[in-house]
Amino acid sequence: MGDLARGDFGDDFTWGVAHAAYQVEGAWDADGKGPSIWDTFTHGKGRIRDHSTGDVACDFYHRSAEDTALVRELGFDAQRFSISWPRVLPEGTGRVNAKGLDFYDRVVDECLEAGVEPWVTLYHWDLPEALHQRGGWANRDVVGWFGEYVDVVAERLGDRVQDWMVFNEPCSFLLVGYLAGVHAPGVRSLRKFLAATHHVNLCQSVGASALRARIPDANVGTTHIITPPRTKQDRPKDRKARAAIDAFANRIFIEPNLGLGYPTEAAGLLRGIEKHLKPGDDDALKVDWDFLGVQYYQRQLVKPAPIPGLHAIPWMSKDHRRYEITAMGWEVQPDGLYEALAKVHAYDPDLRLVVTENGAAFPDRLEGGRVHDERRTAFYRAHLAEVRRAQADGIPVDGYFCWSLMDNFEWAEGYVPRFGLTHIDFATQQRTVKDSGRWFQRFLAATATATDAD
Ligand code: FCB
Repeated sequence: MGDLARGDFGDDFTWGVAHAAYQVEGAWDADGKGPSIWDTFTHGKGRIRDHSTGDVACDFYHRSAEDTALVRELGFDAQRFSISWPRVLPEGTGRVNAKGLDFYDRVVDECLEAGVEPWVTLYHWDLPEALHQRGGWANRDVVGWFGEYVDVVAERLGDRVQDWMVFNEPCSFLLVGYLAGVHAPGVRSLRKFLAATHHVNLCQSVGASALRARIPDANVGTTHIITPPRTKQDRPKDRKARAAIDAFANRIFIEPNLGLGYPTEAAGLLRGIEKHLKPGDDDALKVDWDFLGVQYYQRQLVKPAPIPGLHAIPWMSKDHRRYEITAMGWEVQPDGLYEALAKVHAYDPDLRLVVTENGAAFPDRLEGGRVHDERRTAFYRAHLAEVRRAQADGIPVDGYFCWSLMDNFEWAEGYVPRFGLTHIDFATQQRTVKDSGRWFQRFLAATATATDAD
């Protein structure tokens, strides 16, 4: 791995960092912003590990120019950020909040002035609370609301933003937010989860069309977290368990938009989704993506179990003997990234892929103005080697985005896990680039023939 070099990935490869509105912006009620489901969720009691909120977070709302300059300083080509729907449309539909839209206009200009490509995600989990009150993703009317929102954003930013992602990880906000109830809006209902899943899949298509209608040369994709299931053994019941979890956690969010329908045969529990389908939906779901964003953190261990319609229990294993474990309790398995890319590639060999998130939290310590996070650097090097292996095997991977530029609000885990290339002192908002950030800076500055040896 010592011989990994930037140039090996190709001249057109995009190197970026990613973050998301609720996790970094703060300014939760500034300048006319409406509340999102995450504001409500964090302001309620006992749902966040350290009882924190995203009210201030990294204060990106006021520091975006400084943070964008840092992206440039580290040598990245692109910054992936998301738009907060209730900042733009405080009630979710209808009245536009001009100051909210101005903020994103400014961030785009700051990127362009710094020579950084803006990569915009339209939805990274912060639904307007007003729409949740009207049923949120479980109400089919959301398809119209979402189309209206995307049109407003595309009209304003489309002259300068070319690269778009419609959603961030539907699997996460639907399974964790509507079925497990651990993320906002804290719903626990199989029926609502299935309805919401179908409506989000319809919104993928509506969002992509709204972008293309305004921006003819847009590069339109969406992102999926891919969590390859594994079992300890390979008996028929293990295979059945893997297939069921794969359908539940991966396939239902990807396949309908590729024209493949819902994989209900793999998990009977999914059959309830059929009652939400209306005539014409199969066609309405189809999207001709320019690229798909693959996000990878870990594999998951699956255990066969006599659960009707699921045949399995999924869990995030912590096998300390075989794997390094991150501060999230996740196993480090770099070859799972290759598996994730190969899995998506198998759907369509011509579809361009971008790793839109990959990264790790470790227990960092700021000492004497430095964070010696060699474990994070090793993590990135090992995962980048898997991206190269995928490319070498003919999988068209066009870019890689680190999660994340800076430590931020990690959802139900609050500020405890730190994922950044940059350390943040949340009391002072002081930014300190970690050793891993400096490693990237050297790696990205090196010429095509130089190596990453440090
Ligand atoms: C992903 C999310 C992102 C961040 C990372 C650690 O699933 O998209 O917002 O929380 O995990």
